[in-house]
Amino acid sequence: MHGFDETTERILRRASEYVRERLTIDPVPLDHRGIAAELDRDAPSLIGDGPTDPDIVFDQYERVLGPAVISVDSPRFLSFIPAAPTKASMLFDMVVSASSLNGTSWLESAGAIHAENHVLRVVADLAGLPATAGGVFLSGGSAGNLSALTVARDVARHRRGDRARMRILASEQTHSSVANTARILDCDIVTVPAVDSRMVGAEVERVIASDEDPSTFCAVVATAGTTNAGIVDDLVGVGEVARKHGLWFHVDAAYGGAALLSRRISARFAGIDRVDSMIVDPHKWLFAPLDCAILLYREPRLAKGVHTQNASYLDSIHVDDSEWNPTDYAYHLTRRARGLAMWFSLATHGIDAYRDAVDRALDVATHAAERIVSTPYLELVREPDLSVVMFRRRGWDERRYTRWSEQLLADGIGFVLPSRWDGEPILRLAIVHPGTSEAIIDEILGTLAHAPT
Ligand SMILES: Cc1ncc(COP(=O)(O)O)c(C=O)c1O
Repeated sequence: MHGFDETTERILRRASEYVRERLTIDPVPLDHRGIAAELDRDAPSLIGDGPTDPDIVFDQYERVLGPAVISVDSPRFLSFIPAAPTKASMLFDMVVSASSLNGTSWLESAGAIHAENHVLRVVADLAGLPATAGGVFLSGGSAGNLSALTVARDVARHRRGDRARMRILASEQTHSSVANTARILDCDIVTVPAVDSRMVGAEVERVIASDEDPSTFCAVVATAGTTNAGIVDDLVGVGEVARKHGLWFHVDAAYGGAALLSRRISARFAGIDRVDSMIVDPHKWLFAPLDCAILLYREPRLAKGVHTQNASYLDSIHVDDSEWNPTDYAYHLTRRARGLAMWFSLATHGIDAYRDAVDRALDVATHAAERIVSTPYLELVREPDLSVVMFRRRGWDERRYTRWSEQLLADGIGFVLPSRWDGEPILRLAIVHPGTSEAIIDEILGTLAHAPT
């Protein structure tokens, strides 16, 4: 199993052919939703006590399993928040896999961590964080929010000198992972009413001022690019209130943080330089392969105090305090050096190419909004802040949206799921792929002219 024998050679040839073909398909097709009964029929388990020929196993993946995965990197994938990894990043990710690169501690993986830290510095500079800021690559925004808010809670408890149940200020639009985080951390969420769907400093102040025990607030979470609507909260105002009350200021820029690159709209992120912690997901709009998130701290030593794992078998990685151990900055221990794929791509393409690719998605979102406004049977819900466009098809209810969405995917035209806004069903386009063209948007919008059959 561990030697490079004839079978390995065959698998390498097969995998190389597959990878070459997958990387050259342009555009990547959406593929389809898997149906359990069909998968049971067409992809029986191939795992037995003895070996199965690699070609048989590969065939099952290529013919049945792969096509039953909707391609998140298709320019027609416009639901949730899509991904748009560069070819360079996907190729280098294969190098990371082939090298079994472990990014846990400086002792084991100084070279990988050194390169990852160059990327972290680029993002910290975009946000205007001080030279002492630092952080870690982890699996996703949810893991980033959990790790950051664990620090916020423990720092607040430490300051109080007790283990009181703490509370986190958030908004109705805050990502679901923050509510999950609160549950895991045994914290409560206090919802700050939004003003025009945006969290603003004055409302955070009002909630704190009217609270009976504000000393149990440990953090305020603002969002720079909400998932449903792409709204950037009032980071200056919220940051000021956080500072005034000694609260940890966390900004979830998992989706929107990429737009810090856009010179046209980076002013919307004013105030992000005040964060105590922030996350950005390169697997969303920074063109890295799944799964890849960035967590940055203004004062990494606070995170280290909370997350460092202590055990006799780990003593050796904690001998020299100046060494950067990614494990110390989040809840994890073993960690794939997943930031290297982005490092390679960012270095080989240059930051300006990333800037242009982000601007391209913003342009297409503007086009979509304009087209919706000028189409009588459509209605724009609100002007997009970033690259998420919410709209309605006049006269349609949820059932029609769902039928239309299913048909659109079945026809390979687009993956656009319904969402909700103010309790009402809407449609939503989340655009991050530079290959999502105006023509694709027009084609999708055109299918809304008539009710689905
Ligand atoms: C604003 C925001 N925060 C957090 C997350 C969670 O990120 P992940 O899915 O990488 O865990 C998302 C995911 O869409 C998001 O949009």
